[in-house]
Amino acid sequence: MPPDSPSLRLVLHPDPVLRAVAAPVQAFTPEIERLAQAMLETMRDSEGIGLAAPQVGRSIRMFVAFVPASPERSPEASPPTASAAPEVFINPVLSNPEGEPEVFDEGCLSLPGIRGDVMRPPIITIAAFDAKGRPFTRRAGGLLARCWQHEMDHLNGVLILDRFTPEAKAKNRSFVRALERSGKRR
Ligand code: NI
Repeated sequence: MPPDSPSLRLVLHPDPVLRAVAAPVQAFTPEIERLAQAMLETMRDSEGIGLAAPQVGRSIRMFVAFVPASPERSPEASPPTASAAPEVFINPVLSNPEGEPEVFDEGCLSLPGIRGDVMRPPIITIAAFDAKGRPFTRRAGGLLARCWQHEMDHLNGVLILDRFTPEAKAKNRSFVRALERSGKRR
């Protein structure tokens, strides 16, 4: 893509790419770096806190995340609950969930107009590579931990629709059907 490329196009449910298990990134190429940069820009333009490669039509194991600090969230917390900077996660692996699963309201850029409660463990550890192929491991809590788990789900073809509590499923049913109908017309 050209260096000044506009935002990547967001893929919406029910596009099948969102349901595929994404393939590992095999090589850390300039093309991967450019895609990571474009995804960070698309995430920012869409006002999202995370964006996975399948959401821009690329079925590879890569996501970007930036959870801004707020009065309730900080990159200085232990474990951090916000991002210190926008970050790229390639071939990520989650491990060591800590704490009893908690409920929290989630949305998704691929599911416009749909939000609902999802249960997830409050603290998680992630190991991944950055866009230059450097490995790192990090632990997070709060919204940051939730964001990583949500984005990791995208790499496995899982959407919040699959994780909604029964109440959230019921509340969103008609919106999901409408999105699926409009998807058939796209
Ligand atoms: Ni999402």
